[in-house]
Amino acid sequence: MTRRSVVIGAGHYLPERIVENAEFEGSIDTTDAWIRSRSGIERRHFAADGETTSMMATRAAEATLTMAGKTPEDVDAIVVATSTPDLTFPSVATMVQARLGMTKGFAFDVQAVCAGFVFALTNANALIVSGQADRVLVIGAETFSKIIDWTDRSTCVLFGDGAGALLLEAQDCAGDSSDRGILATDLNSDGRHKDLLYVDGGVSTRTTGYLRMQGNQVFRHAVEKLSSTATTALEKAGLGTQDIDWIVPHQANIRIIQGTAKKLDLPMDQVVVTVQDHGNTSAASIPLAMCVGLQRGQIKQGDLIVTEAIGGGLAWGAVVLRW
Ligand code: UT7
Repeated sequence: MTRRSVVIGAGHYLPERIVENAEFEGSIDTTDAWIRSRSGIERRHFAADGETTSMMATRAAEATLTMAGKTPEDVDAIVVATSTPDLTFPSVATMVQARLGMTKGFAFDVQAVCAGFVFALTNANALIVSGQADRVLVIGAETFSKIIDWTDRSTCVLFGDGAGALLLEAQDCAGDSSDRGILATDLNSDGRHKDLLYVDGGVSTRTTGYLRMQGNQVFRHAVEKLSSTATTALEKAGLGTQDIDWIVPHQANIRIIQGTAKKLDLPMDQVVVTVQDHGNTSAASIPLAMCVGLQRGQIKQGDLIVTEAIGGGLAWGAVVLRW
């Protein structure tokens, strides 16, 4: 018997306010056509004033527990992937724990920017496989609208806010690649590329700062690194691209998503795409896309899913799981 982390619930939350590309045309030198053609983005959600990452994360967690038919008492640990915590500390995860009314277990944040959800899933899986937790809520939640420089047209049109979550449960499985649950993970980072994507503020500057990105340089790294981490994770699981039912990629740019699918030799009708409606929600994009994939009837129990992401750091990775 092999102990695996099996997804038993998924849920999400998107803030009410939707901003179409055309709204940017009045304030900066851009067009709907440029944003669509270069990124695939058509609209995004922005959090209301006073609506924080922990609030959205809690809403996604509640939806997840409802879907799984579980209560907060059933959860041993909460792992939140975010780069936009409400405060420098404490963690968003402990704030979610309090909002859910949980008085036991443990909670912490993982910070790997847009790759955050893949890093959080991998950490949660390690907690389950090592026997330290039986049920872990893994949440990706971001309010990138709070770190956007609204005068920088090269970044302000790309990002959005939202939260998504999965509930993982320890289950005894056969130990082969037909098992449900997380089958393999692959994490990477290379800190030499810090200047390609960073926030120019933080504790050392006594400011919050703004997101700065050399988008075309990040783009150069993305397709190569995403396809190679996905291939590595599949190899670790003893599987190949022919076994994939769905790719659920980080949603940064439709051209990166298409380029990665092409490199993996998979048609776009096996890729869950939400970038047009959410923009880039960083660590929230993968669980949000999983929820949309479920709602659309794309993802079904037993499907083999490969999820991959790259972001600031640079940090990148992939997870292979059977839903
Ligand atoms: O999720 C974390 C990781 N992040 C990513 O994966 C983002 C990766 N990068 C990208 O998605 C793309 O690089 C962008 C969408 C950011 C940009 O697309 P691009 O095809 O790489 O364009 P570019 O940066 O090379 O810029 C092309 C031109 C520039 O003008 P010049 O220098 O050619 O005259 C920009 O100034 O487009 C201009 N530009 C804009 N024009 C209209 C940049 N932003 C805008 C804009 N509207 N909003």
